[in-house]
Amino acid sequence: MKIAILPGDGIGPEIMAEAVKVLQALGLRFEMETAPVGGAAYEAAGHPLPEATLRLAQQADAILFGAVGDWKYDKLERHLRPEQAILGLRKHLGLFANFRPAICYEQLVGASSLKPELVAGLDILIIRELTGDIYFGQPRGRRSAPDGAFAGAEEAFDTMRYTRPEIERIARVAFEAARKRGKKVTSVDKANVLETFQFWKDVVTEAHQDYPDVALEHMYVDNAAMQLVKAPKNFDVLVTGNMFGDILSDEASMLTGSIGMLPSASLNEKGQGLYEPSHGSAPDIAGKGIANPLATILSAAMMLRFSLAQPAAAERIEAAVRQVLAQGLRTADIWSEGTTRVGTREMGDAVVKALKDN
Ligand code: IPM
Ligand code: MG
Repeated sequence: MKIAILPGDGIGPEIMAEAVKVLQALGLRFEMETAPVGGAAYEAAGHPLPEATLRLAQQADAILFGAVGDWKYDKLERHLRPEQAILGLRKHLGLFANFRPAICYEQLVGASSLKPELVAGLDILIIRELTGDIYFGQPRGRRSAPDGAFAGAEEAFDTMRYTRPEIERIARVAFEAARKRGKKVTSVDKANVLETFQFWKDVVTEAHQDYPDVALEHMYVDNAAMQLVKAPKNFDVLVTGNMFGDILSDEASMLTGSIGMLPSASLNEKGQGLYEPSHGSAPDIAGKGIANPLATILSAAMMLRFSLAQPAAAERIEAAVRQVLAQGLRTADIWSEGTTRVGTREMGDAVVKALKDN
């Protein structure tokens, strides 16, 4: 089993070091190979996704990814910016299905900005389409406005588009996932305004015919944003396009107390996957040793389950994480009165210890 380790920028290397420690403590045989990505790769090799890093990612059974990005690269041309690394990996590997679970751990109910009764026991799964939509649609660019009230003025434009097969396959992923849990899918669109999302709604409705045991509801994205903070437990599986999924998954993360707790998986049609924390590179706290490594550690658990066929090892990691939370250990992002504040490394060490004790 070969794992590509891509730590990236900001807090990426710190949190990745803890996840690697946890993987090593499992006593399984993995080959792990590390390569630079994002701003770190730009510094080392002049490109955010160097050829060698892409090749390693393509050959690996799974990729564990930290985070990319730093304000200091904002002035670079777009194709050299760190974000292009993750977008490039998604596109080159065809990682179209992004799973972003939002689970509120019992011990962290108080860390959420919402009332405890709204989030206690929360367990929703956001499935975000990851290789289409306005993120990748062509044409895009800058030009002189061809028409309209401001014809001739400088303008910028992107293109929102989805083909039928792209919608169909993500809808199927959502229905299959719902079958294994609450048997309900909420498809989020903007069919009242956008042609692309009327089509999305139509295709999801057609695909649903093969899943009569799963309930399907449709919801406009603005309403979904509201329902997520009003009654989040009404959701089970939420499926949506690339852009809406980007926004709603950040919103959902706050229900759980901290984005520092949330893992994610991005899978292609072969089951190969990239696993990354849902949070970003947080350059403001990089190098301080205070970042929460649990999202990356839990991403490693998802990797063991989905790409490496090691469900028992995944469960061991998840149990160890629950145990350290029960012990009252908290990084700064989830700390509250009466709990013990620890740094990145101490948190990783505690997970390793919990693994070994069990
Ligand atoms: C995410 C991030 C990325 C995205 C950025 C870093 C390109 O926000 O994974 O949610 O927009 O998809
Ligand atoms: Mg995002």
